[in-house]
This record gives sequence, C-alpha cells and structure tokens, in this order.
Amino acid sequence: MNAHSTVASPVLTGTMLKGLAFANRLSVAPMTRISASAEGVPTERMARYYQRFAKGGFSLLTTEGIYPDKAYAQTYKDQPGLADRQQAEGWKKVVDAVHATGRRIFAQLMHGGALSQANRFRSDTIAPSALRPRGRQMVSYHGEGLYAVPREMDETDIAEAISGFAQAATLAIDVAGFDGIELHGANGYLLDQFFTDYTNQRQDRWGGDIGKRLGLSLAVLHAVRSAVGDAVPVGIRLSQGKVNDNKHKWVEGEEGAAIVFKALAASTADFVHVTEFEAWQPAFSAGGRSLVTLARQHAPDLFIIANGGLHDIARAEQVLEAGADMIALGRGALTNPDWPHIAASKVEACPLELEMLSPISDIKDSELQL
Ligand SMILES: Cc1cc2nc3c(=O)[nH]c(=O)nc-3n(C[C@H](O)[C@H](O)[C@H](O)COP(=O)(O)O)c2cc1C
Repeated sequence: MNAHSTVASPVLTGTMLKGLAFANRLSVAPMTRISASAEGVPTERMARYYQRFAKGGFSLLTTEGIYPDKAYAQTYKDQPGLADRQQAEGWKKVVDAVHATGRRIFAQLMHGGALSQANRFRSDTIAPSALRPRGRQMVSYHGEGLYAVPREMDETDIAEAISGFAQAATLAIDVAGFDGIELHGANGYLLDQFFTDYTNQRQDRWGGDIGKRLGLSLAVLHAVRSAVGDAVPVGIRLSQGKVNDNKHKWVEGEEGAAIVFKALAASTADFVHVTEFEAWQPAFSAGGRSLVTLARQHAPDLFIIANGGLHDIARAEQVLEAGADMIALGRGALTNPDWPHIAASKVEACPLELEMLSPISDIKDSELQL
C-alpha cells in the first residue's frame, strides 16, 4: 500500500451497476470451497464465511461456482447447488447474512461438463466433444487420476443444460434473493469447453469459428435473461487459462477477442468478468492489449469486473484506469478478508498465505469471523 498518499484510491470510490450502488470497486472473486451438505445445501458455516468478506468491506461478493441442475452440472463433492428449493433456501441464509451488512452478492452458476470429478446425479460426464480433458483431477477437491472421457452432447443435452441455468437463475433471484447472476464461462468448465478450439470439434451450429463457439454462452445468457427479467444484473466470466491448462490463449488473438466482446455488447449481458493470471498484462503478445482494454474498447457500455493478481493496490488502480469498473480479489481476499478496510486505512496487507486450501479446499474454522 502507498502509506503516504492523502487522496482516496480509486478502488475505494463508489459505482453503480443497473441500479445497484456499490460503495467501492472491490469484490470477492468466485471461489469453490466444497463446504455444502452432502445434498448440496449451503450451511450456516458458509453464511458466516461469506459474511466475513462483507464485514471486511467488499461491496460485492460473487459466490463459488454453484451447480444449476440435477443432471450433469455438479463438478465437485460437497459443492453447493441451486437446483431445488431446499438448496435455494440454504442460499437465502447466505444472502441474508451478506445483506445484513449492506453489501451485495451475485450467484455464480457453473456446469462442469467434462471436468466434473464427482456428481451425485450421474456416473458419466458430457462435453461438446468426446475427448478426455487435459491434465489430472484436482486432489484438493477430492479428485484422483485422469478425467473421464465425456460423452458428446446431443441437442437434448444442450437444451437441458440451457434450461438448467435458467431454472437455477430463477431460484437464485426469487427464492434466495441474490442481487445478480454470473455465468461461469471461464476456467475450462462446460461453457468454456464449447468456447475453446481444441475441446469443441463439433461440425454443427455449436462449433466452428470463435463466434459460433461462443454460441452456447450466448444462448444461456439469453435464457437466463428471459427467466429473471430485465431488472436483474446478468453477466459472464471469461478467461484464457483453465484449471487443467493454465497457459491456454485464445487462438484467434485480439481479432477473436473483438468478436467475443462485440457479441457480448450486443447480447443482454450487463457485465463481463475477465480473469487472467495477471490482469494488466497483454493478453496475447508483448506490447498488445490486455483483456480488460480489449473489453472496454469493443464493449464500451458493459460493466467490467477484472480479476487476476490485483491484491497489489497499484495494480488494481492500473486496471481500473485501463477501463475496469470493479476489481475482484481471490487469493488476496482469502488472505485478507478485510482488504478494503486495510486499503482505506493504508496499512500493509498480509502476503498471500493459502494454508486454508490444503490438504482439502473446504472452509476452515479460522475463516468464520474477522
Ligand atoms: C480456492 C479457489 C477456488 C476457486 N474457485 C473458483 C470458482 O468456483 N469459480 C471461478 O470462476 N473461479 C474460481 N477460482 C479462481 C478465482 O476466482 C480467481 O480467478 C483466481 O484466484 C485468480 O485471482 P487472484 O489472483 O485474485 O487470486 C478459484 C480460486 C481459488 C484460489
């Protein structure tokens, strides 16, 4: 932190998204913590965990990835769902705990596709193409060995996945009381499997060039918008890297990014959440533009949430300057759940210490209160 500046940092200034006022530009990034009941119902412990970030001054929290249906979406053991009323009522307790502090919370809806490593509802996995995913299952999420070879989705599977997202969004807004919906289009999960050149080898309308490969995400955005109405903030998270391929780059480079962000600008999305390892870096090659800059250029009216290595306040300010509206912190928030208060009082934040994520990434007792 800059201990000598007397001017409030831009990260501490307010902003608005679709009628929602935020007291600062700081949000908690979505982080899977596999701490729900075996039935996928959020617990009291999760309510305390989320409320801790709200009390710490983050004006927006995005939940961990939540599975939207009782078919193929669940990805991890003890992951929470939003696929029935009981799960939605569990989330209501989390939402109420956050609202009690005056902060906001968005639900991240996530379908694991071929990266599903535990699913109570199915014993096989599905994906755009029947190709075994790269890499190995995540041990800190109870995984072991290679991923299964998925079955190629047919039109019925695709229609079911889309309507699962829409139904979960309805439960999220009408029953749980969330303030907005983020679709997980990043990090290698189902929507990203359709978006990625080498995991999507389809010859039908869901495959092809980058615009066509974005088609499932656009269809889900459309279905979710129709389900929740115009007033609710809805957006999508995009990345290049994946949990099972962290160096991946969009093969179409900056021209591909232009197509993607223009398509999102023309969609009913209100925001895009871009995540990179280091959000300020050129996205494709030295001297080029970052994803944040490209998003701002090609989608001038979209609200942009930026994530990746921004727990250094100077970097966060740089990314706001490049066009982001909101910063999301992942590891920085885990280490400093009161990062916004620390920034406001200009004291040094603790360095990243992530011992709470091992050996298993569930919520630890030390994370339940400030
Ligand atoms: C424990 C953990 C769980 C995560 N789970 C999710 C998730 O459920 N959904 C998602 O979009 N990203 C997830 N991520 C990625 C983070 O949202 C974020 O992109 C990443 O930590 C990089 O941001 P940072 O540099 O601020 O930590 C997870 C990261 C961590 C550390």
